[in-house]
Amino acid sequence: MDKILTLGIETSCDETAAAVLCGGRELLSNVISTQIPLHQKFGGVVPEIASRKHIVNIMPVIDEAISKAGVELRQINQIAVTFGPGLAGALLVGLSAAKSLAYALKIPLIAVNHLEGHIFANFLSAPQLEPPFLSLVVSGGHTALIKMTGYNEFELLGQSRDDAAGEAFDKIARVMGLPYPGGPEIDKLAKLGDPNAITFPHPKVTGYDFSFSGLKSAVLNFLNTAQMKGDSINPADVAASFQRTVVDTLAEKTLAAAQEFKLNKIVLAGGVAANSSLEKTLRTACQRRGLEFFYPSKILCTDNAAMIACRGYYQKTFADSTLNAVPNLGL
Ligand code: KG4
Ligand code: ZN
Repeated sequence: MDKILTLGIETSCDETAAAVLCGGRELLSNVISTQIPLHQKFGGVVPEIASRKHIVNIMPVIDEAISKAGVELRQINQIAVTFGPGLAGALLVGLSAAKSLAYALKIPLIAVNHLEGHIFANFLSAPQLEPPFLSLVVSGGHTALIKMTGYNEFELLGQSRDDAAGEAFDKIARVMGLPYPGGPEIDKLAKLGDPNAITFPHPKVTGYDFSFSGLKSAVLNFLNTAQMKGDSINPADVAASFQRTVVDTLAEKTLAAAQEFKLNKIVLAGGVAANSSLEKTLRTACQRRGLEFFYPSKILCTDNAAMIACRGYYQKTFADSTLNAVPNLGL
């Protein structure tokens, strides 16, 4: 059995994370130090604060990942680190740590695209999963449909032309007075509401691209108008109706792409994959159509270094010490 030990490092946004993976799928440790409480009072991530906190946390988090894995640092065979997309200052902290360690230990360095990492989280949750499949990546910064025919063969079928799905969740939650990050809050509130109470316009974009800014504006207008008129609204109905519109749009496009490209496995990835309604809707739709459905366990949906280690393991291409952060790295 393959016993390559990969240390994964992730600092693209507001989680400082490190993980140790044995071979491609056996996760030995997965440490995540979240900064969410720190950014909550600002209603969103403050990049400068995120970078400073990563600097404080990075070495203790790596030490903890190594010790929880029950290995020694000198046993690590390679280091996989996120180099983009993300916040420049935040990415640089993980990159500096990874480059220094790789240099000191004389081991290879692997530059990982964070979005590809999200897809690979599924290989850890479902060890039997193999490409080809269709992946819907929905995070705070991206919404994309990707056809994956091999571990290193990706085809971008479509992506968001404006706001990402997670961004729309966060923005609406903020206006509704809910804490950051808004996605899980809307998810919780929506369970108490009627998804058919309010009809918000469905985004009209042909093909496999997405657009959520029109829907976001429609919900914000609805809230503003009600406030100006002094009308009382039921926040749970707003959350449920908005969420249903997003979920229906994501599900429709995903199922259409699966049919067109004859892919019988659907793989959900990214922070918004933790949304209970999205998971349930896709699961049910896949069951009806005889498609296999995969989505990562909750802890692997949002940012973590286990997915970065896994992506790095399969990548088989290496970086050198000139590696730099690429904040707007695409798929
Ligand atoms: O993938 P992720 O952790 O970070 C990025 O790479 O962007 O995604 C974070 C996004 C945030 O917008 C957050 O609100 C959203 O994922 N999110 C959710 C849920 N949990 C996290 N959105 C909807 N429902 C959830 N349960
Ligand atoms: Zn992410």
